[in-house]
Amino acid sequence: MIRLSARLAAVAALVPPGASVIDVGTDHAMVPVWLVQAGICPHVLATDIRPGPLRSAAALLERTGTGDRIRLMQTDGLAGIAPEGYDTVIIAGMGGETMASILSAAPWTRSGVLLILAPQSKQAQLRRFLVKNGYVITAERLAADAGRVYPILTARGGVSLDYGEAELHLGRLEQIGTDPLFGRVLDAARAQAAKAAPFDSGAAQSLEEYDRIRRELDHDHSF
Ligand SMILES: C[S@@+](CC[C@H](N)C(=O)[O-])C[C@H]1O[C@@H](n2cnc3c(N)ncnc32)[C@H](O)[C@@H]1O
Repeated sequence: MIRLSARLAAVAALVPPGASVIDVGTDHAMVPVWLVQAGICPHVLATDIRPGPLRSAAALLERTGTGDRIRLMQTDGLAGIAPEGYDTVIIAGMGGETMASILSAAPWTRSGVLLILAPQSKQAQLRRFLVKNGYVITAERLAADAGRVYPILTARGGVSLDYGEAELHLGRLEQIGTDPLFGRVLDAARAQAAKAAPFDSGAAQSLEEYDRIRRELDHDHSF
C-alpha cells in the first residue's frame, strides 16, 4: 500500500466504500492509487490539466500495478467528462477560486454528486461560491500537515443557509467549532483581520466577530 500525507489521508477517508470517483487535479494519482489498493473503489478516473503530472501518475500506476483500475485523462477540470456513472468528485490541492471555476463549468455537479473539496487557499471564495450557487456544505473537518492546517469540505447540490463573513472564512461553527484544530484556524484568521483592521472596516468587523467566537470557545472549554 502507498502511504498518503495526513491531508490526503483525510480526503480519502471521506470516500464512501464502492464509490465511483473522479479525482480532479490528481498530480501523482496518490489518492486514486490508495483508494483502489485499499479496496474502497473498484475504479477511479484521475484527471489533470498538465501532461507532466499525468506522466508521474502513469509511472505510479505502473509501479503499483493499478493501471487496470485507474483511467488517466488530460483535461481542464471536469471538461469533456460524461458524468453518468460517477457519484463522487474529489478536488484537492488547488486554490478555492480554481475549484469554484471548475464546478461552475460543470453544473451537473449540483445533481446528487458528493463533492470532497480540499482547498489550499481562498477557502472563503470557495464557500461563497458554493452557498450562492446551488450547493450545500454538508460537513467540514480540518487536517494538519507539515505545519499547516487545511479545511476539507463535503458538499452536494441544494439550497444553502446564508453564511456571514466570518463563516465564509472559518466554516460554520456547528460543523467545525469542535474540531481540535479549529482554534488554530481562528487565531490565524484573527491575526490577518487585526493587520487589516486599521484600514478596512470589514476587517475590523470580522475582528470583533473572531473575538466573540474566541470568547465563546474559551467559555465552552472552561466547563
Ligand atoms: C498541488 S497539485 C495537488 C495534487 C493532489 N490533488 C493533492 O491534493 O495533493 C495541483 C494539481 O492540479 C492540477 N490542476 C490545476 N488546475 C487544474 C485544472 N483546471 N484542471 C485539472 N487539473 C488542474 C495541477 O496540474 C496539479 O497537478
